Amino acid sequence: MVPLALSLPSRWESPSDDELARSELISALTAPQASISPKYFYDPLGSKLFEAICDLEEYYPTRTEACIFAAYRDEMAAAVGAGAVLIDLGAGNCAKAAGLFEVLQPRQYVPVDISAEFLQRSVQDLQRRFPHIPMQPLAMDFSAALDLPASVPQRHRLFFYPGSSLGNFDRQQAQAFLRRLRAALPPAGEGGGILLGLDLVKPMGVLEAAYDDALGVTAAFNLNVLNHVNRLLQADFNARDWRHVAFYDEAQQRVEMHLEARRDLIVRWAGGRRTFHMGERIHTENSHKFSEQGIRSMLQEAGFGQCRMWFDARRWFAVCHAQAG
Ligand SMILES: C[S@@+](CC[C@H](N)C(=O)[O-])C[C@H]1O[C@@H](n2cnc3c(N)ncnc32)[C@H](O)[C@@H]1O
Repeated sequence: MVPLALSLPSRWESPSDDELARSELISALTAPQASISPKYFYDPLGSKLFEAICDLEEYYPTRTEACIFAAYRDEMAAAVGAGAVLIDLGAGNCAKAAGLFEVLQPRQYVPVDISAEFLQRSVQDLQRRFPHIPMQPLAMDFSAALDLPASVPQRHRLFFYPGSSLGNFDRQQAQAFLRRLRAALPPAGEGGGILLGLDLVKPMGVLEAAYDDALGVTAAFNLNVLNHVNRLLQADFNARDWRHVAFYDEAQQRVEMHLEARRDLIVRWAGGRRTFHMGERIHTENSHKFSEQGIRSMLQEAGFGQCRMWFDARRWFAVCHAQAG
C-alpha cells in the first residue's frame, strides 16, 4: 500500500504569504469599487457550502458536466491516453477526478487547492479508496503562479480544470492562466494536455437562478467570505449587515455576485477601516460564460493544439480536451 502523501506544502503557512494575502485584501477593500477575490470563499465552511450548492436544483453546472463525463468518458480517456499525471486544479472534494480514475488510470494524482484543510480530508479519504494511485496534494494559490515541485513529472501531464472555474478570471486573466498552464506542459507530442469544463452562454433566467437559489445556500456561501476575511484581517464585518446580490451582465456574458450593505456602516480591520453607505456593494465573483468558438480561439491563442469538445443535449456546458500544441 502506498503511504499517504499528505505533507501539504502550504503557501499559507508562510508569514510572508499571509502578509501578501492581507495586503491584497486591503487594497481590494479600499479601492473605489470594493472587491474580495472569489478565492477567499474557500475556508473550511465555504468549501462545504460549495458542495451543498452543487446539490441544488437550480445549480445545473455540476449535474450537467457530470452527464457529459458519464456519456463520453471513454472518448475522453482515448483522447488523453492512459497513465497521465493528473493535476486537478481547484480539486475541492476531488470527486470529479475520482470519477475518471477508472478510465484515465492516472500514473499520479496531484490535487491542488487553496482550501488546505478541506483538501487534506478529501485526499485522505480518496487515498484509502485508491491505494494504488500515488497522490501528492498541494495546498496553494495558483492564481498568480503555478510552481509545481520536481516530484510532479512533466511528461504526460494533464491539467484537469472542471466546474467552469476558469470563468472566475476575467477574459485576459483566463488567457494568461491558460498560457501558464501551456508553459508547464511538455513539448508537443509528449502527451501533455488540458481537460476543461466550461459553462456556456444560456438564457438569463437559468443563469440568475443558479447563482441565487431559493434556499439561500449561495447567499450563505457569498456572505461567509466576510467571516473568512474577518479571520485573515482581524476585521469586524457582520454578515447580517450585508445581502447577497447576483445578476447576469449580458454585455460581458458573466454572472456577477456582490454583497450589498443594508445600512451605512464602518468596517474596521487591524490598521484600517472603510465606510460603506447603504446600497454600496463589494464585488465578490464573476462567472464568465463561454461560446464554443470563444473556447477554441482562447485555447489556440494560449498555444494549445488539437481540441475536442463534448456537450450535453441542451448545449449548456462543454468539456474540452486540448493537446499541448
Ligand atoms: C468552484 S470550486 C470547484 C471544485 C471542484 N473542482 C468542482 O469542479 O466541483 C473551486 C475550487 O477551487 C479552489 N480554488 C479557488 N481559487 C483557488 C486558487 N486561487 N488557488 C487554488 N485553489 C483555488 C477552491 O478552494 C475550490 O475547491
